[in-house]
Amino acid sequence: MKKDYTILTGITPSGSGEVHIGNFVGMVKPFFEMAKKAKKVYYFIADLHALTTVKNREELQRNVENIVLSYLAFGVDTSKVIFYRQSDIGLHPELQTILNNVTPLGLIKRCHAYKDKLQKGFDPEKVNMGLFNYPILMAADILLYDPDYVPVGEDQRQHVEVTREIGQYFNKTYGQTFKLPEVYIRQEAGRLVGTDGKRKMSKSLGNVISVFSDEKTLKKQIMGCFTDPERIHSTDPGRVEGNPVFIYHDLLNDNKKEVEDLKKRYRLGKVGDVEVKEKLLKAHLKKFAQVRKRYNELQNNPQLIKKILQEGAKKAREVAEKKMMLVREKIGLTNKYSFFKY
Ligand code: TRP
Repeated sequence: MKKDYTILTGITPSGSGEVHIGNFVGMVKPFFEMAKKAKKVYYFIADLHALTTVKNREELQRNVENIVLSYLAFGVDTSKVIFYRQSDIGLHPELQTILNNVTPLGLIKRCHAYKDKLQKGFDPEKVNMGLFNYPILMAADILLYDPDYVPVGEDQRQHVEVTREIGQYFNKTYGQTFKLPEVYIRQEAGRLVGTDGKRKMSKSLGNVISVFSDEKTLKKQIMGCFTDPERIHSTDPGRVEGNPVFIYHDLLNDNKKEVEDLKKRYRLGKVGDVEVKEKLLKAHLKKFAQVRKRYNELQNNPQLIKKILQEGAKKAREVAEKKMMLVREKIGLTNKYSFFKY
């Protein structure tokens, strides 16, 4: 890794925006670790990208709110992290329009965003252009800010590579303008098994344990969790390895002595699933007590959220405007009659 690096990443509010403990290990924790070491951090909510799938205004509003509140509750340090909404910076779609002209059709046809949709049997004639052009908007999101690294999940690797290609096409055509960022793939160790004990924890599969839901919901999620399928009675010796309930205990329960005791008794057939799960619920509530409290406080203070987003947008816009002035200059949108200023 370079020293004094800048990172930029976005999150698409196309799910419910409700954070679960799988997101916590897979996204939230790695993001905070990386952000701590970075010199400069851009983190934004890609609400324009969400429009490719979310067509309901209340749903979009709710998703965005959930994500904003969650990340702030987890403690995004907004004195360092430039935290903003994509749609608050009109320069992203503006740069996209320009990049369209150096982007070959074939490059975008090869992208996952589009190909995955076709693979699911979708009629290519009906794919919306927002989805098709998704990687070009993503390239604009990135190239405006000259980041060194773009941390994303494996599924977004190709889009960052395409960003480099688009940046390169532009630089070759008009001269050096954009820095070409490197992709930084989040560790696979971040994958957490869901409460079904089989697949990755994911909201769409309904196998999650949330972070911010009310206690009743959390209890339901934890009590319904899959354990050792071969253990029928609580007096049967049970298997701890690979047992989701214990994976979650290792993750959430800071009382390591209690965890060791539960594991020992489980192996001997001296503890029931109910006790293990009740202790897991307690551990969860303890682990996230502070962030859950902060979430509620933030939710009751919309003026503060507004101010944070406004300040983030202001800082981001300053950087993006400088870059766009350079782009206008390079491509010849400016001339001796120009008066344009952002
Ligand atoms: N497409 C990304 C995702 O779904 C989100 C995203 C949009 C993004 N623009 C970005 C990520 C720019 C990194 C950089 O996860």
